[in-house]
Amino acid sequence: MATAAAPASARRHSIGDFSVGPQYVVDVRDQAPDMFVDHSTKDWTKLSWRNVGRPYRVEKWATGKKEYERTHGEPLPIVEGWKTFNANFHKYFTTNVPDAAANARTELKVAIAGMDVHGAQEAIEEMFHLLIWNRIHRVEDAVWDPRGKRALFSGLDVKKPRILFLGAADGYEAMQLAAMYPGGHTVLVDYDEFCKTDRFGKFPEAYPFLGVDPATSHKRVWYREEMNIDFEVEDIRNLKYGREFDIVVSIGLVEHFPDEHKPLVYEFHRRFVKPGGYVIVTTPRDQIKSRAWYYVMSDLLNYGYRELMDIRQLGLYSHENGFEVLRAGVIKAHNGLIMKVR
Ligand SMILES: C[S@@+](CC[C@H](N)C(=O)[O-])C[C@H]1O[C@@H](n2cnc3c(N)ncnc32)[C@H](O)[C@@H]1O
Repeated sequence: MATAAAPASARRHSIGDFSVGPQYVVDVRDQAPDMFVDHSTKDWTKLSWRNVGRPYRVEKWATGKKEYERTHGEPLPIVEGWKTFNANFHKYFTTNVPDAAANARTELKVAIAGMDVHGAQEAIEEMFHLLIWNRIHRVEDAVWDPRGKRALFSGLDVKKPRILFLGAADGYEAMQLAAMYPGGHTVLVDYDEFCKTDRFGKFPEAYPFLGVDPATSHKRVWYREEMNIDFEVEDIRNLKYGREFDIVVSIGLVEHFPDEHKPLVYEFHRRFVKPGGYVIVTTPRDQIKSRAWYYVMSDLLNYGYRELMDIRQLGLYSHENGFEVLRAGVIKAHNGLIMKVR
């Protein structure tokens, strides 16, 4: 459990701070997000699959997945796919992008000088991946998107909430929620141990989350180490909790379940939320940029079933599965819904 005060070195951000570091963007600006399209007034009961169409499936698989399936003659186990995804994704989060780009350029020069075609190809590929990652994470800040997430998560009627994050990975969104609604307890669940030890375990202590001070109701900055968080390495299907959480959240989970399993993934959310509690679901948007991202990064990320959808499709799935949509918004990379069980 991480409840200690933030190290003094980490307490250095003020509201309004914005800077681009070698790994990530610090954005504690108390301003409207660059991108938040509010769809809360949509009448989800009027939508039909005939109108909205089905989600786009990402089917450019990672070479590693194809190789496994060729040699083993069976599908890559889903959990193994996630382990590779998390290891690969984490590597980029921890990359010093300017240094890595400089290294890749040097490697390319050396390979060209030595007539090493394979080496040159690898260096070019690495440069390309870094270019895309730099754009998405350090220029657009579209993966974490703190101002977009804060806009989406705002206005919940909770005090000291118990928060459950299903498929938590680095736990980012639960930390954002815990900063906005402090004083409660958060449980992160992921069956990949690496998420506990590294993706969350080594999440930058100095990263600031803009939230609120419960004593004064004024805004304040929170750090990971100040939050009351437990990480449970477990399969969501084996969780023993009752309907005890004020907020159940998943970020990029629902789209990994084909339609025949959608009722099950929604049931996971319903199963653990208190009567009257909130369910928050976001999934990646179906937009040219996202399709290009999963195409270019396929060898790193595409180890399992994934859909890209629009807000209507996410809303329709949620409505069909017994949820009332209270708030719907499109942020940089995701669609998001704040819901209650109907
Ligand atoms: C696509 S990731 C979520 C995206 C995340 N925001 C990120 O930064 O990578 C989904 C996470 O859910 C976890 N997961 C998938 N199915 C699970 C299950 N049945 N039980 C526990 N964790 C699961 C995976 O290990 C993975 O870390």
